[in-house]
Amino acid sequence: MWVVEVEGLAKTFVTGWLRPRRREALAGVSLRVPPGAIYGIVGPNGAGKTTLLSILATILTPDAGRATLLGLDLTREPAAVRQRLNLVSGHANFVWSLQVAEILDFYARLYGLTARERRVRVEELLDWCELTPYRAVPYNELSTGLKQRLALAKGLVNRPELLLLDEPTVGLDPDMALKVRAQIAELRARERVTILLCTHYMREAEQLCDQVAFLKRGLILAEGAPADLKRRLGLGDAIRLRITGRLPDLAGLPGLLHWAVQDGLLTCTVDEAATRLPSLLGMLEARGARVEELRVTEPDLEDVFVEYAKPHH
Ligand SMILES: Nc1ncnc2c1ncn2[C@@H]1O[C@H](COP(=O)(O)OP(=O)(O)OP(=O)(O)O)[C@@H](O)[C@H]1O
Ligand SMILES: [Mg+2]
Repeated sequence: MWVVEVEGLAKTFVTGWLRPRRREALAGVSLRVPPGAIYGIVGPNGAGKTTLLSILATILTPDAGRATLLGLDLTREPAAVRQRLNLVSGHANFVWSLQVAEILDFYARLYGLTARERRVRVEELLDWCELTPYRAVPYNELSTGLKQRLALAKGLVNRPELLLLDEPTVGLDPDMALKVRAQIAELRARERVTILLCTHYMREAEQLCDQVAFLKRGLILAEGAPADLKRRLGLGDAIRLRITGRLPDLAGLPGLLHWAVQDGLLTCTVDEAATRLPSLLGMLEARGARVEELRVTEPDLEDVFVEYAKPHH
């Protein structure tokens, strides 16, 4: 069974009264998230990521399509769905005058936890998110990083089976972003939760996600494991070599996608560096070129993002 099963989801916003403007945020999105996955949705600004999460969190209703969460139909049983998921936004905001522990207690109360359950759960979450020293600090006095850790803790009060994360590390310094990412990675094992995560940061998607969907203008253009996405686009690995001696013609080298020479620096893009490197070096040596320096770089998801963000996609 899928934790999230979405079929043809569509949503158009209409704004303005005299001259209504239509904005298609989702144009028929289908995706499936298996249990225990960390599933990433990446895409440029305005792609429809937040709209999709808002529909799944039952905050917005779709115009068309179907969504089943944990086997429950989203439009027919929204209350039951809500009990079993939680949504964390990178732009979360809580009542400014409430203290950290009070905020967690407040949300736990909304989910119907008893006083005893709340005490246990709040302590657990304070401890896990390293917020215990800040338990009595009012929200408006917290740093951005602490606010974000609190938002994550809040997202766990009801022990959700599905956690929706919307840009969980936006605006954090690299150190804090790493910490939050490590926590997200740990969550899956600790809380046995399935995670659907929207992010702008390709590193984040690459590090955390088993599957990534690339959303643009309300449509999923590609979906798969990060490594598959790269392979599908034929991005290949880059082998850069500093060479002295004669620069040979490399045409005919198996797996070679393209190559270029500039200032004695030879750049070869091959389908897979590990399998092609020996034959490349063999060919260079046989033709009298001497390799002084060698560097292999694999494409990252950023390259995939840049490729799909191009207008022709
Ligand atoms: N409440 C709303 N009213 C009108 N238009 C909206 C509303 N919410 C979103 N939109 C529009 O729908 C489209 C998708 O927006 P959405 O916020 O889902 O994108 P996003 O992928 O989350 O973008 P970002 O990366 O900037 O967060 C955008 O064109 C946006 O302007
Ligand atoms: Mg958004």
